[in-house]
Amino acid sequence: MTTAAPTTERSAAQDVILRFEDVHKAFGAQRVLRGLSFDVQRGKVLGIMGGSGTGKSVALRHVIGLLQPDSGRVEVEGRNVPDLSGHDLSELRKRMGYVFQEGALINWLTVEENLALPLVENTELGRGEIADRVAEKLAMVHIPDAGKKLPSEISGGMKKRVGLARALIVEPDILLYDEPNAGLDPEISRSINELMREIAESHESTALVVEHRVDCIRTVCDEVVFLHEGEAIVHQPTEEFLRPSHPRLIEFLGPDALN
Ligand SMILES: Nc1ncnc2c1ncn2[C@@H]1O[C@H](COP(=O)(O)OP(=O)(O)OP(=O)(O)O)[C@@H](O)[C@H]1O
Ligand SMILES: [Mg+2]
Repeated sequence: MTTAAPTTERSAAQDVILRFEDVHKAFGAQRVLRGLSFDVQRGKVLGIMGGSGTGKSVALRHVIGLLQPDSGRVEVEGRNVPDLSGHDLSELRKRMGYVFQEGALINWLTVEENLALPLVENTELGRGEIADRVAEKLAMVHIPDAGKKLPSEISGGMKKRVGLARALIVEPDILLYDEPNAGLDPEISRSINELMREIAESHESTALVVEHRVDCIRTVCDEVVFLHEGEAIVHQPTEEFLRPSHPRLIEFLGPDALN
């Protein structure tokens, strides 16, 4: 009995893949994150909602080490990201997929080349295998024929889907989505949401999804946090979250919450 408790605690802790612990981050006088804390268990998809400018994208950038907290911890699989060596951070990044809010494709490379790049840089796959993987992911996001085009030759919604395909190309353990639905029409948006759900279920990947749209949150996320004034003021399973009781969340979600 005396050893049982610590063992249980330890295995519970091992299942936490992402953890923010009292994270503070300011830019000059602007205090963006002010004690942000939450964690995500292995295989779960956590939605992050909150008003524009509340620090959602800033929070995601901490997970891949593009930003460092002023204080607090940002842990991935129990390791504090700011403490990782350059080598360990780049190893960790290889196992992460990041869908940037802005798309962030390389303008002088074709869609195919953009998708192939992470595989060329980070894996030992041969040309044929890379070409197959690229074709598979383009088909997955419903743009099988876009491979030869440059980013400037495709629409905003298509760029978004290429960004998603690029994040999926390495078949990552951890996925970070920053407004994956922005700029997509409702039909494509639904199919992308279903795709995100499928990926979560089939790959056992863990994900953070920053999203304003309730339909995406409802389809994709297991749990949701609501950011307000730099903190997570609500963290609940999706169903409860969408029947809000916190006054600020009711105000934020508005009539959508009643659907
Ligand atoms: N590198 C930076 N330098 C200075 N200020 C920054 C930087 N990155 C973000 N900010 C500021 O931090 C605040 C939060 O930005 P962030 O991009 O995280 O907002 P957000 O919650 O993602 O909003 P949105 O829903 O509009 O995307 C903003 O006021 C932004 O201007
Ligand atoms: Mg943002």
